[in-house]
Amino acid sequence: MASDMSVVPEGLRVLEAAGRSHHITLDLHHFDWSCQTYLKTGRMMPEDGLDQLRGFDAIYLGAVGYPGVADHISLWGLLIPIRRAFQQYVNLRPVRLLRGIESPVKGFPPGQIDFCIVRENNEGEYSEVGGRLYRHTDSELAVQETVFTRHGCDRIMRYAFDLARTRRGHVTSATKSNGIIHTMPFWDERFALMATQFPDVRTDQYHIDILSAHFVQHPDWFDVVVASNLFGDILSDLGAAVVGSVGLAPSANLNPEQQYPSMFEPVHGSAPDIAGKGIANPIAQIWSGAMMLRHLGESKAALAIERALEAVLARPDVRTPDLGGKAHTREVGDAIANEISVVAEP
Ligand SMILES: NC(=O)c1ccc[n+]([C@@H]2O[C@H](COP(=O)([O-])OP(=O)(O)OC[C@H]3O[C@@H](n4cnc5c(N)ncnc54)[C@H](O)[C@@H]3O)[C@@H](O)[C@H]2O)c1
Repeated sequence: MASDMSVVPEGLRVLEAAGRSHHITLDLHHFDWSCQTYLKTGRMMPEDGLDQLRGFDAIYLGAVGYPGVADHISLWGLLIPIRRAFQQYVNLRPVRLLRGIESPVKGFPPGQIDFCIVRENNEGEYSEVGGRLYRHTDSELAVQETVFTRHGCDRIMRYAFDLARTRRGHVTSATKSNGIIHTMPFWDERFALMATQFPDVRTDQYHIDILSAHFVQHPDWFDVVVASNLFGDILSDLGAAVVGSVGLAPSANLNPEQQYPSMFEPVHGSAPDIAGKGIANPIAQIWSGAMMLRHLGESKAALAIERALEAVLARPDVRTPDLGGKAHTREVGDAIANEISVVAEP
């Protein structure tokens, strides 16, 4: 699928290299849906866009956002409808300090920061319930409702606990039940109840303000962090910064029941401040491709991509400026694709 960023071609190049080396035929369909399309057609995607996507196994998305198109138009015209229509209620965002990368938080060697943010992706603070009144008068007001349902809280928390069982058995809940008087105490109740079903999983919870501080000071404390839509979104960029750059952070929008296609995209946005310079870090996009292959059952190919990107990152000469280097987007993509091909050769 097209996007407003130059990293998608690198992600595709690496996916194709992994496909070749693991004898996987990728049947790729490209959709030119972006802010550029919106400027031409008045729509981010066609009216039947969701129907066009429904039959695919997975969606590989690049970030959208472009000066001249309001951010709520680009996100609510493409990304958010896809997440909701396809019940991609899990936004899985790994936070891992890779070999070769120095965390801006001193004293953490690679391997010591390794956790996952499990962000609720369908409800919460990102709701359409609300409105504006008395526009353009002194009485103007805006109301935005947060929606937490039992169904929505329980399914994301169950996913987080199940995930923790495959990792180090620890779930942290992001809350704010001291200040947000209805929804967050409800979130805490559901979390406590879910924890009783997983007595082997260790739990804790922090208010989002101190949790943000702990992310910076003690990123090694966490294994799985479960959070509402907004809190999870904010924590994801913070987590990405702690392990080096938002340019490294991948994500998966999962429909765990696999009734609908899941979607894979970087955590970051379209980076308009560096647009057109060819220096955006493609690794988040590439790593999201590895998550997609794993979701599709191609674990070996996924691992090959992850190993290749770590091997390239271990060499300081092929780094984009966000990591202190001088390399261009294309050079990083080429280096990772070559690494996969070289390793795959007998
Ligand atoms: N999923 C999405 O499509 C998505 C997500 C977030 C933001 N956005 C959109 O992106 C636009 C810009 O948003 P923003 O500025 O808040 O966030 P952003 O992530 O685009 O950029 C924040 C900072 O990170 C840097 N950055 C981001 N990706 C990078 C990369 N791959 N390599 C190197 N540096 C990178 C940018 O240069 C910028 O300095 C807005 O239109 C916003 O709505 C889209």
